[in-house]
Order: sequence, then structure tokens, then C-alpha cells
Amino acid sequence: DKGEFKHYMLKEIYEQPDAVARTIEMALDNNETSKLRDDFLQRYETQLAGIRHVQILACGTSYHSGLVAKYWFESLIRVPCSVEVASEFRYRNPVVVDNCLVICISQSGETADTLSALRDIQKQTPAGLVSLALCNVPTSSLVRETDIFLPTLAGPEIGVASTKAFTTQLAALMLLVLKVGVIQQRVTGERLTTLIGELQQLPGQLYASLNLDAPIKTMSEHFEDKKSCLFLGRGLQFPIALEGALKLKEISYIHAEGYAAGELKHGPLALVDKDMPIVVLAPKDSMFDKLKANMQEVHARHGELFVFASEASQMVAEDRLHVVYVPEVCEVLAPIVYSVPVQLLSYHVAVMRGTDVDQPRNLAKSVTVE
Ligand code: M6R
Repeated sequence: DKGEFKHYMLKEIYEQPDAVARTIEMALDNNETSKLRDDFLQRYETQLAGIRHVQILACGTSYHSGLVAKYWFESLIRVPCSVEVASEFRYRNPVVVDNCLVICISQSGETADTLSALRDIQKQTPAGLVSLALCNVPTSSLVRETDIFLPTLAGPEIGVASTKAFTTQLAALMLLVLKVGVIQQRVTGERLTTLIGELQQLPGQLYASLNLDAPIKTMSEHFEDKKSCLFLGRGLQFPIALEGALKLKEISYIHAEGYAAGELKHGPLALVDKDMPIVVLAPKDSMFDKLKANMQEVHARHGELFVFASEASQMVAEDRLHVVYVPEVCEVLAPIVYSVPVQLLSYHVAVMRGTDVDQPRNLAKSVTVE
């Protein structure tokens, strides 16, 4: 039931604060502020203590959450992590090192390529292999075939465009990174306390980000007649740029590409002219100054910038520069909060263009054949 909402997608965007709160509660008590719950993944502690490498496999939006997790595994707890789309991994005879945690991320748990890639690894039987399903459907094939089930408590997702499944995947991945970090003593003391405190603020920040609905709807009017669009981000926001581009093409049928902003000069800058909208994910983080230089390059070539920024960045709208301020959030968790404005943008563009938002042409919710 869509209730008061015109589309399931919009309803599911609005469900994100609660869905993420439920997911976080798997590992965090309301009253215990500085540590993970003892019972979170407790049965698997011995297995997780032994892993030395992480291999993430997924498709589409779930692949993008894996890309964020790679930054987290490596920068926060120094565990090497590879991420690959399952449809490529399964056909290239890949090496799976010993003591590897294979994480399959899938909303449905029935995606054919992801399942096949997992089965291929299991056939190789590398020493110390631990497999984990990060999945929204407890009864799925993926959950049955893996050692560990880490649920995303998003509730049923009906819209073909994945929204709350994505943000709950990110929240659960952060919990997993912390769990492995704690078990292996790679994150301790004040750093751990701070990260946990920041996670607890996340539902409130997501809730506040829904207030961007009206300004983003106004922004979306600039996209109605566009043929093509770029999404730019750096660091943890690069996967969100990819996700923003996927969302826009999937439901509005506008061609869109996500790029690491540092790659602009290596090709895409040639596309920029006055008809090219460029969406930029620009929190005031450690990459902001570099990103600002990238924005100036685009602006100088008359590209029209649509920037999601932190108020702290003091970016001010001017000619061909539109700015929407996103609620303050720490750098590490910013990709979760910045997902909301890109979802809302593609939603409003699609509604304006009159597409079938919940059932985009040629696509199925669950891709059970390759
Ligand atoms: O069920 P899964 O998470 O395995 O599905 C993977 C992709 O098919 C899915 O994320 C797809 O890209 C979405 N429609 C994107 O919104």
C-alpha cells in the first residue's frame, strides 16, 4: 500500500530514517553508547577473527554500496578489500586468496550473477573462506547458501529503483566493518566511541535530509529536457555519484554518467557545455578543496552545476551554480546521507517526464537470469 505517497519509490525514500534505525539497532543499544552489542554476530567471532582480505560481489546499486564499504574496510580498519560486479568476476577465473571474507550484497538474494559468483568461489574451496550474505530477504537463495546472514532491515522494497535497500546496506556494512575492526583490535578507544556516536545520529540526519524534497523538486525542473548529465564526487562520494547516475538513467531515461571528479580532465570535460547539467556531491570533507577546483573547471566551460553541499562549505548560488545544503554529517557516514538528495532528484525528474517511476521500462526488480 502506497498510503499517502504517489509512488512506492517516494514512500521507500521516506522510510529510510526508520529502516536505517532498525538496521543499526542490530548492533547498537540505545543506552549503551560506546560499544557494539555483545550479541551482534557473536556466533561468528572466531571466523571473522581469521579473515585477512575481503571480496565483495554484487550488481547494480548493491555494487555501489560495496564500493563505499571498500573505502571503509581499508581506511578505517586497514583490511584489504576488492569489489567487483558479479557478472565480470564469475567469468574471469579470479584468484580468491586464503582467509577471505566473501560478502555478497543483494536486496533480493536471487540475483543470478551474484549467486553464481558465490558458488564458483565455494567450488574453489580456498582455505579459511567465510561467506556472508548482506540481504533484505531472509528466505532467499543467497542467505541459504552462505555461512553468515547479515540482514538489512529495510522491509519489502517494491519500487524497481533501489533506495532504502541501499542505505540500509551501507549502515549494515559500517556495522560489519566495526565488528571486524573490534574483533581484530583494529579500531579501539576513542575512535570507536566517536564512530558509534556518529552512527547513532544517522537516523536523525536522514530524517532532516527529507526536508530537501521541496528545493530538490524545484531544482529538478532544470533537468526536464536534458539529454545527458554528469554526476561527480570524490572519495566516499564517488560511489554516490555512480549511484546518482544509475538512479537517474533507470527511472527518468536521461543518459547519466557518474565520474570520480579527478578524472574530469582525462576525458569527460570535453562533454561540458552550457547544456550539460553536472550534479556534484560536495560535503565539506578532506577532498572538498580538490573538488572545488574541479567545479571551477566545469563552470569555466559554461557547464551548469547542481551542488549538494554542506552549509559549512559556504558555497553560494550564482549564475549556473545551484546549491542545496545537506544536513551536517561526519565525513565517514556522509555517503549515506548524500544518497537521499540524489534519490529525490531522480524521482522528481522522472515524475516530471511522466515515466513509470516504480516499473521503469525494460527492467525487473529481481534479475534472476543473466
Ligand atoms: O537484488 P539485488 O540487490 O541483487 O539487485 C541488484 C540490481 O539488479 C539492483 O540493485 C538494480 O541495479 C536496481 N534496480 C537499481 O536501482
